[in-house]
Amino acid sequence: MSEFDTPDLQPFHAMEVLARAQQLEAEGRHIVHMELGEPAAPAAPEVRAAVRAALDLPQRYSNSKGTPELRAALADYYASQHGVTVPAERIFVTLGSSSGFILAFLAGFKPGARIALTRPGYPAYFNIIRALGLEPVEIAIRADLGWRLSAEQVEAVHAETPFDGLLFASPANPTGAMVDRAGLASLIEVCDRLKVRFISDEIYHGLEFEGQSASALEFSKDAVIINSFSKYYCMTGWRIGWMVVPEDMCRQVELRAQSLFISPSSVAQTAGLAALGATQYSEAQRAQMAANRDRFVSGMQTMGFEGLRAPDGAFYAYVDVSGFAADSQEFCLDLLDKAGVAATPGVDFDRTDGHRFVRFSFAGPEADIAEALKRMGGFLGRP
Ligand SMILES: Cc1ncc(COP(=O)(O)O)c(C=O)c1O
Repeated sequence: MSEFDTPDLQPFHAMEVLARAQQLEAEGRHIVHMELGEPAAPAAPEVRAAVRAALDLPQRYSNSKGTPELRAALADYYASQHGVTVPAERIFVTLGSSSGFILAFLAGFKPGARIALTRPGYPAYFNIIRALGLEPVEIAIRADLGWRLSAEQVEAVHAETPFDGLLFASPANPTGAMVDRAGLASLIEVCDRLKVRFISDEIYHGLEFEGQSASALEFSKDAVIINSFSKYYCMTGWRIGWMVVPEDMCRQVELRAQSLFISPSSVAQTAGLAALGATQYSEAQRAQMAANRDRFVSGMQTMGFEGLRAPDGAFYAYVDVSGFAADSQEFCLDLLDKAGVAATPGVDFDRTDGHRFVRFSFAGPEADIAEALKRMGGFLGRP
């Protein structure tokens, strides 16, 4: 044990499953990958063409807030998609949403501040909060309530352990749960009342199967919005995203962005600008994911996971496997070794109750969903 050990820092089990899956592949096994949260499709043809054309031009540092062209296009996106006017000065282009979180937490909170987040939730939230010297406060959400966070829960947890920020995603990872407009408005209203800064992770916007997401910007000028080209635009590896920052935080975010990252990648910004104009392609991906969702959920229900409800958005099914195994980590290792299906144990998303759940990503090709269901039927003895 060294003084630098951080017992709180858990492995990212999805990555550990991936490593084991790759080892099996190197031994000649065929694996169906449902462990990672990324679309199988490449970026849109328009994106690839724009980047090809840009490669012969000098690629230099941009303004640390991003290129004026991309920020103006993002301002247009909020006007057309959400009917809100956002000055481009409040928009920052980031290196995926991941650097947006770092900037938001460093610029928006004092060291030691408490940040609330849902359990289950995206595991990096917890680790980023801790790494930056902040304190995570978990709010347990429930399967029987559709995994939706309510304003009442926020208020009740705040009364016990007051916190300074709430980090919230809809659609959410790993549950795919969405709150509706009224639900989002009431979360923001309670945060305003409690003087809690609302950080809205809108990375799965566009990937909705029931209704459309509202942006927190429609209800508040004080919320921090985090978004990314990773999911809806199928660009995880391009490392490009954006944030919208309240006026009072702009300069503080800019000062940190200058030194931490200098600027976002110039090539990725060219890609992002083209992606915003390629919505037909993204919509086709969404339609494929919707078909995958229906097929996977009904296949799983037939196999005995009767309680599984179809996720509202994102591309994950968070499945209670406690009827089949006592521990989801063992279930995942067994499923991988015996059936060649890679999935992520719930402990990644929930350190308390995650041993009962497994997250399956259905963002892969259609054929993979059918193959995974066939293999799981054999594995569970329920073809
Ligand atoms: C909820 C959520 N937020 C943020 C991220 C990080 O995405 P990126 O840094 O690629 O934008 C992910 C990735 O899976 C996620 O699921």
